[in-house]
Amino acid sequence: MSTRREVNLGILSTVAAAAATATTPALAQTPAPIDLPSPDTAGGKPLMLALKGRKTLRDYSDRPLSNQDLSNVLWAAWGVNRPQSDGRTVPRWRDAYLLDVYLVRADGVWLYEPKTHRLLFHMAGDLRGQTTTGQSFVATAPLNLVYAFDTSKMPNATDAEKNATSGATAGVTGQNVYLYCASAGLATVFRESVPAALAKTLQLPAGQIIQFAQTVGYPRV
Ligand SMILES: Cc1cc2nc3c(=O)[nH]c(=O)nc-3n(C[C@H](O)[C@H](O)[C@H](O)COP(=O)(O)O)c2cc1C
Repeated sequence: MSTRREVNLGILSTVAAAAATATTPALAQTPAPIDLPSPDTAGGKPLMLALKGRKTLRDYSDRPLSNQDLSNVLWAAWGVNRPQSDGRTVPRWRDAYLLDVYLVRADGVWLYEPKTHRLLFHMAGDLRGQTTTGQSFVATAPLNLVYAFDTSKMPNATDAEKNATSGATAGVTGQNVYLYCASAGLATVFRESVPAALAKTLQLPAGQIIQFAQTVGYPRV
């Protein structure tokens, strides 16, 4: 794992220049943002029951998530839970907002915008299979969350600090998603199996690294 992290950091300087080379289908019109329903912040299982049921599943139905489940998953991942202070459901390194959660789905790549609780279109194409180094279920599961971390906002940090901070941030986010999935009967797996070039594939700005992704869907029954 450390090898891939080093590679991810190593490509930082080349990401911006290389981004333009990625090929994606042309769209006649940029899809409009998708408003999500409000998260159901009063429902779900008690925390201890969710912890009791937390587990990894790798066998997914291809059925898309309902809008409500999608809303709840994203709010659990990186949602605003204290609007007055833009507080989030996960802690932040030095109070900085360095995480971006991308959704890689059959209908393209979207960026979750926490403050408006909506999805912003990022790029066209079904890139689900490109978010894994070889786990086949990833290409057909309805949703892959990609945890992008902006190291450009920590200029004085060492590569080791950037990696540790990125990993910890993805980890706390991933556990929130695990607990929501356990509460709601969804399947999920937190994954290090992401290609070193995923930030480039997703045409992310220089300095953004991706160490982890997380597949989410309904269990195949
Ligand atoms: C840092 C980290 C990386 C992981 N990477 C992968 C992965 O690439 N692919 C995968 O299928 N599972 C991955 N997992 C999930 C673990 O394999 C899983 O949590 C473990 O087998 C225990 O199963 P459980 O989550 O059901 O308790 C990862 C978990 C962690 C914490």
